[in-house]
Amino acid sequence: MAMLEVKNLNAGYGKLKVLFDVNFRAKEHEITVLVGPNGAGKTTLLNSIAGLATIFDGQITFNGKDITGMPPHKIAKEGISYLLQMGNIVSGLTVRENLVIAGYLLPKDEVDDRIEEILNIFPRLKEFMHRKAGTLSGGERRMLAIGMALMRRPKILLLDEMTTDLAPILVKMVLEKVVELRDQYKQTIVLVEQNAKRALEIGDYAYLLVSGTMRYEGSPEELLHHPQFSKLYLGIKE
Ligand SMILES: Nc1ncnc2c1ncn2[C@@H]1O[C@H](COP(=O)(O)OP(=O)(O)OP(=O)(O)O)[C@@H](O)[C@H]1O
Ligand SMILES: [Mg+2]
Repeated sequence: MAMLEVKNLNAGYGKLKVLFDVNFRAKEHEITVLVGPNGAGKTTLLNSIAGLATIFDGQITFNGKDITGMPPHKIAKEGISYLLQMGNIVSGLTVRENLVIAGYLLPKDEVDDRIEEILNIFPRLKEFMHRKAGTLSGGERRMLAIGMALMRRPKILLLDEMTTDLAPILVKMVLEKVVELRDQYKQTIVLVEQNAKRALEIGDYAYLLVSGTMRYEGSPEELLHHPQFSKLYLGIKE
């Protein structure tokens, strides 16, 4: 059974329709990859799941529970952690303070345990604990952002464009961490990426969204080696 299921979703902002009859599922312990060109509606799909978009029609269920139209904080409490495309780091606070804020709903003694666990996943953050987050490099910021999303031990992690603007070596490092989260920590992940090729290489299942419509779902391998991949990706119909 899918952990997250989106059925016939029509959603957007205010009166604007962005998604048309979208179906999407994410299974437990898998990386589900969502790719598509700029403006396709990828972020809007994550926003819909997280309670941040206007839903016109359709249904979103999480672990069998209907979460359609629930307010964002309730959805977060259900165990859905959403890492926004623009990041949620506060530059003027230290790395440690950022992690503490991300765990604000947790009992106090649990916060330290969680921070300890996150430092095991991202050992490099140890050196930066008392530095202002604004002084971190691009790659280090992404690590901190993922760490923050993990503070509340989410059942599912929604990652939006984690690798944009990173040098190739850092893209590789961030995606390796995503794989590690799945393999070692059994984390369920939805990965939205414009870096389609690399994302498809690590995904278990893939979706391609073009102009608000799902154009492909299935094996990431197959999509990657699809003879019409570029055409599909750009939304050119045969
Ligand atoms: N808050 C908003 N209010 C109104 N329209 C919006 C809002 N956010 C996005 N849109 C519009 O919705 C459409 C889909 O945008 P979305 O951000 O979901 O695309 P995307 O696939 O994530 O693109 P990118 O790869 O550039 O991040 C775009 O036409 C965009 O202008
Ligand atoms: Mg986006």
